[in-house]
Amino acid sequence: MQATNVVRLQQKCCYNTEVMNLARQIEQYLPPQLLELVKGISGQAAERGERVYLVGGIVRDLLLGYPNFDFDLVVEGDAVKLAQQVAETTKAKLLSHRRFGTAKLRYENFTLDMATARRETYAQPGALPTVTPGTLKDDLIRRDFSINAMAISLTSNDYGELIDPYQGASNLDCRLIRILHPGSFRDDATRIIRGVRYEQRYGFEFEAQTARLLERDIPMLDTISGDRIRHELELIFEEKQPEFAIKRLGELGMLPRISPFLKSDGWLAEKFDRTRRLKKPSQLPLLYFCLLVYSSDEKEIEQFLARLNISAKLSRAMRDMLRLKTRLPLLDKSALKPSEIYYMLREYDPVAIQANAIASDSPIVHHHLQLFLTKLRYVRPSLDGEELKGLGISAGPEMGKVLQTLHKAKLDGEVRTRADEKKLALSLKTLNFNTDP
Ligand code: CTP
Repeated sequence: MQATNVVRLQQKCCYNTEVMNLARQIEQYLPPQLLELVKGISGQAAERGERVYLVGGIVRDLLLGYPNFDFDLVVEGDAVKLAQQVAETTKAKLLSHRRFGTAKLRYENFTLDMATARRETYAQPGALPTVTPGTLKDDLIRRDFSINAMAISLTSNDYGELIDPYQGASNLDCRLIRILHPGSFRDDATRIIRGVRYEQRYGFEFEAQTARLLERDIPMLDTISGDRIRHELELIFEEKQPEFAIKRLGELGMLPRISPFLKSDGWLAEKFDRTRRLKKPSQLPLLYFCLLVYSSDEKEIEQFLARLNISAKLSRAMRDMLRLKTRLPLLDKSALKPSEIYYMLREYDPVAIQANAIASDSPIVHHHLQLFLTKLRYVRPSLDGEELKGLGISAGPEMGKVLQTLHKAKLDGEVRTRADEKKLALSLKTLNFNTDP
């Protein structure tokens, strides 16, 4: 990702954040509609005696000059009540969770997340934290890395002031990823995977002690549920070049903690790159998942599906992918007719076919699979059952046979027009009458 409009950080690694005011940068960074809205929210909060802050990833990316459309606000007060009030005055759709003190306001072009500032304590490693209301500082110290533990005040008396109690901006300037306390990865080992994602996205390094603790705590990944691990992989698969993070997880010995047979190599990186050149962004994550396990056998894939609690849809695609992989030699013949290709592939999930097309190194196989996906699977005869009845073909097995022959002929380009199809159907009818006992 290219950094644009980089905010100049004044002193390398050690400037005084207490005096940093980002009012001008906020005005440039936030879309005007959103800017007006957050100012309105902060005004309503002030009337209630509450304070509102922009927090987390958006503050980090504002300082870096990277685009970010995740708008997170923390309220020192009651975020749910404030969000209800804002939803009424700004006609937003509201989704709130009183138990967690969170609310989502949905507008036409964007959403806004609001949360009550909170304190978190972990009863045991890997468990979800116990949450109680707290101050902004409590809310920042519970976070994963210093670069994600900054806030910007939106309250009028100190509007734009950067609140950075843990030297996040300084670490950002030094391109360092640093946890906030030694127990951080033990509290929540998903942070190990998150850290790698940020390291690779921004080209940062882990600060020395963080790197040591990260290596020490890698086994803690075993305490994380399949759903949470899968979610982290999904986030990696939303990155521009997820192969970097996957490779790094491999280097750090984390992949076998996720599933024992997983590995990352040059093959995977090349196939991820090929996937991006072939497919739209919305289709990439499922294909990345499939390619990640492409070299595995049935038992290993079943283990992966169970560990990560993979959805029924993706499970089906992965199982189909493996079945089809064993049949690829049948497709590696240049003389195949389109109808033969069609009947070999029609039972398989399109994602499974696409994954094999990307994975296969044979240009012939690749061509046949792509031909099926882009063309053959959509081919249908123009004549329907009613029209065939009109030609004197009776419903039932006879019609089934005629329709299949028409379909094959159309796939193979032997009939092109409706007239061609009628002619063929009539000839088949004659043939049937002639062969009837
Ligand atoms: N967070 C955390 N520990 C986690 C997950 C999230 O401390 N395991 C905090 C971080 O402060 C993070 C914020 O919650 O900044 C929001 O999380 P998320 O939306 O996942 O990340 P972003 O910071 O918005 O970063 P990005 O989406 O770019 O990865």
